[in-house]
Amino acid sequence: MIPVITVDGPSGTGKGTLTALLGERLGWHCLDSGALYRVLGLAAGRAGLDLEDAEGLAALAAGLELRFVERRVLLAGEDVSDLIRTEQAGMAASRAAAHAPVRAALLEWQRRMAREPGLIADGRDMGTVVFPLAPLKVFLDASPEVRAERRYKQLKEKGLDASLPDLIEDIRERDQRDRNRAVAPLRPATDAVTLDSTAMSIQEVLDRVLEEVRR
Ligand code: CDP
Repeated sequence: MIPVITVDGPSGTGKGTLTALLGERLGWHCLDSGALYRVLGLAAGRAGLDLEDAEGLAALAAGLELRFVERRVLLAGEDVSDLIRTEQAGMAASRAAAHAPVRAALLEWQRRMAREPGLIADGRDMGTVVFPLAPLKVFLDASPEVRAERRYKQLKEKGLDASLPDLIEDIRERDQRDRNRAVAPLRPATDAVTLDSTAMSIQEVLDRVLEEVRR
């Protein structure tokens, strides 16, 4: 079986950075499953679809022409990497992701990303639903304030508009929806290693996870 490391947790805990660093260190592929839901949110907006239209969204998800090329996200050949990083796209993703038919439509696509020599999969339900047999599951958490500050810095570095109080509110709203939805709610897998990164640097988190990899 192809080895998979899952990295789940709420927004702004450093999942994406950890996944990229692990990918470099181990020479494995990376799956940013959040990008999938973000692209769906974007495509839904363009198609004029209501974010409560579960069946319409699922049909759109099933037909998404999506490719990840060198850390860029291509939708039908168009580079949408920057467009999907806004808070608005994150919120649309979270609303679209709450529907069971949408998640079912994206399940096989995600599983197909597991290729030799291995995969590091970043998201909300990687360890609980998509790769339940993964031998190493990490759940990253941190306080909402620290997560909002990290997100603020990230958006500013990209030259995107951001307000810290708005980000804290967005993060709380998204957390609440992600944790309380009926399908694939955000929670650690029973066999996950949970790390609270509030007071940890990304290097400390990486070292801790590499210790687990070596076990
Ligand atoms: O980067 P950030 O952690 O803020 O978000 P993301 O990982 O890009 O995910 C955006 C939204 O997609 C999340 O708020 C979730 O609602 C949803 N999502 C999901 O439901 N399942 C996943 N495996 C990944 C993302």
